[in-house]
Amino acid sequence: MAATKKSLQYVLRSISTGRRSFSALPQGNPSSSQHLINLEYQYIAHNYHPIPVVFSHGRGSCIWDPEGNRYLDFLSAYSAVNQGHCHPKVMKALVEQAGKLTLSSRAFYNDKFPVLAESLTNLFGYEMVLPMNTGLKAIIVSCCGCFHGRTMAVISMSCDNDATRGFGPLLPGHLKVDFGDANALEKIFQENGDRIAGFLFEPIQGEAGVIIPPDGYLKTVRALCSKYNVLMIADEIQTGIGRTGKLLACEWEDIRPDVVILGKGLGAGAVPVSAVLADKDVVLCIKPGEHGSTFGGNPLASAVAIASLDVISDEGLTERAAKMGEEFRQQLKKVQEKFPEIIMEVRGKGLLNAVELNSNSLLPATAYDICLQLKEEEFFLSQHTIQ
Ligand SMILES: Cc1ncc(COP(=O)(O)O)c(C=O)c1O
Repeated sequence: MAATKKSLQYVLRSISTGRRSFSALPQGNPSSSQHLINLEYQYIAHNYHPIPVVFSHGRGSCIWDPEGNRYLDFLSAYSAVNQGHCHPKVMKALVEQAGKLTLSSRAFYNDKFPVLAESLTNLFGYEMVLPMNTGLKAIIVSCCGCFHGRTMAVISMSCDNDATRGFGPLLPGHLKVDFGDANALEKIFQENGDRIAGFLFEPIQGEAGVIIPPDGYLKTVRALCSKYNVLMIADEIQTGIGRTGKLLACEWEDIRPDVVILGKGLGAGAVPVSAVLADKDVVLCIKPGEHGSTFGGNPLASAVAIASLDVISDEGLTERAAKMGEEFRQQLKKVQEKFPEIIMEVRGKGLLNAVELNSNSLLPATAYDICLQLKEEEFFLSQHTIQ
């Protein structure tokens, strides 16, 4: 942690004094970072604007590039690698299952998915699970600033023009409310309650910049959803599986949503796997043939997810995220005291954190520039909000 503090202070100092040193990547060698970046630029859709670090191998929280430079990965694939890169227990489960059986389809049974379903439902306290492979496929009342994925249904809920520009027609049939504003939510429920099936929210908005709602918000949402008979649907894809210092971020307010959506960390970065947890009165509304997924519940993903959950509990990673996060924010706040004109806020829960920068004081540098500079310091963070 001392190294973290020193390096962050260095980064901020060099930005505040206008020094920017982005060293060039090595060229020429076909397995060099620069060559691979060039290939990606030439052949892969430009739907991301990555920080120029090529991941070559990873272990725990560390990543190495092809040149052997080591980085500390604070992003962990937006919570998909909560167990650390290539956790040996997860890799063992992956390899063993890959040699045995990878896909049955749900036209048949397999010997792994029921075992996962039992441990998922026991661990999270729900009666049933619906398996999937990626983020969200649902509708309803949602929050401004939300991010639930990139299907037509969920981009229709987005307030982000970048997500919707050029796509259409967007799906009707949903309403928006400000995240954290329980009064506005109640007003919508009062006006439309009998037509609303569910309220979909992230307990902490991840993509929006780690936005934490006011204390008591989730409890009030729980009460409102029960009062107006609206399903409370928590998208814990980024916040779940220990990342925020609780197994589910909703546990910070001791509430139980009607539906919980998990993804990312469930597959420990090894396979895409997601799941919807709810009780029978909800899950059994879906009849055979009404929903499906070719890879949903596949034995490979199930074996990996069983191992991923075991690692989280056996190694106390949830408690560790709470403790490390506390320490991390304390150190960052000390850095903030030194650079109050640059750092507006340090916030987060567990190891889902953000440093909000004052773009006016940063000019002409941007948050992306800071990430590039942090890369030189062997950190690797998300570019827009520093998460
Ligand atoms: C809260 C949340 N929901 C849904 C998704 C979409 O998940 P996927 O990319 O697996 O579809 C994400 C991805 O970042 C997310 O952060």
